[in-house]
Amino acid sequence: MTPTRRPRRLRRDGIRELVSETSVSASDLVVPVFVDATLDERQAIESMPGHERVPVDEAVARVEEVLATGVESVMVFGIPESKDETGSRAWASDGVVQEAVRAITAATDAYVMTDVCLCEYTEHGHCGVLTSEAHEAWEDGAADSDAESLTVRNDETLELLARTAVSHAAAGADMVAPSAMTDGQVGAIRGALDDAGHQDVPILAYAVKYESSFYGPFRDAADGAPAFGDRRHYQMDPANRREALVEAELDVEEGADAVMVKPGLPYLDVVRDVRESVDVPVAAYNVSGEYAMLHAAAEKGWLDLEAVALESLLSMKRAGADLIVTYFAEDVAEAL
Ligand code: PBG
Repeated sequence: MTPTRRPRRLRRDGIRELVSETSVSASDLVVPVFVDATLDERQAIESMPGHERVPVDEAVARVEEVLATGVESVMVFGIPESKDETGSRAWASDGVVQEAVRAITAATDAYVMTDVCLCEYTEHGHCGVLTSEAHEAWEDGAADSDAESLTVRNDETLELLARTAVSHAAAGADMVAPSAMTDGQVGAIRGALDDAGHQDVPILAYAVKYESSFYGPFRDAADGAPAFGDRRHYQMDPANRREALVEAELDVEEGADAVMVKPGLPYLDVVRDVRESVDVPVAAYNVSGEYAMLHAAAEKGWLDLEAVALESLLSMKRAGADLIVTYFAEDVAEAL
């Protein structure tokens, strides 16, 4: 009964680190930053402990806090001063993201990514131009109308996303990250960036974005919940795995420089599949609900927050992610 192979031999201090296959470092991480044009002082985000919405003139200070932890990259989200039918404040040159990015890039060396979407900017909270059926249902206040099966016009939305991405690049964004799940968005944005002279601005495509209930806290934070219906006809069905490869391959063909899988932890199989099917860098988005649930359990004393946060990120790296967008970035970087 004597085992011939003893994997325990390599688990002792000294050798353990030498044979470790994966690691997380601050340089793998990107922190989401919320800039809110309606505020004149910082406001805590209740469901995301430790995160705040900051006014535009605090954006630089917020990014300096991030840099002080060793994390060098941020993803900027904006909450505009006003919303309208098409989300026109998303591409305004004096919009909240544009102003914040201009200030951040002028004052810091942070690598600045921007989320390119319309849901925080439209009154109806959808990520594009409504169909006429959906528009009617919305005006009638029909929360559960049939229109929710087809809410957003794909092709009319492309032009608006392209304008938004170009306005971010013009403000100095280092990278743009389209998250609207509009078919053809990467190609449309690449073409528009090139035409505007931004050939060197790369695209991180939210290629594989599921219609997930793990986005709840974010939708409070960024005020981007749909006013009616849901996002089922544009975000992916959580049941699907092969479809993720179609999405990732299409985005690479259209010119994505890197592709993202979102959420992260519940979709590690998909991170692995995508890693094996494309040759560009793969990102995972450790989303708001993943952050909130670990915080809630830790608050009850049921989990060790620092340990589970690090283990979560390590698991995403092990699954094949090269970089991770995470609300834990600053805490983990400080602990490392
Ligand atoms: C869309 C966007 C969302 C998130 C990132 N970009 C919300 C959504 O699709 O509903 C969610 C991120 C998170 O939950 O942390 N602008």
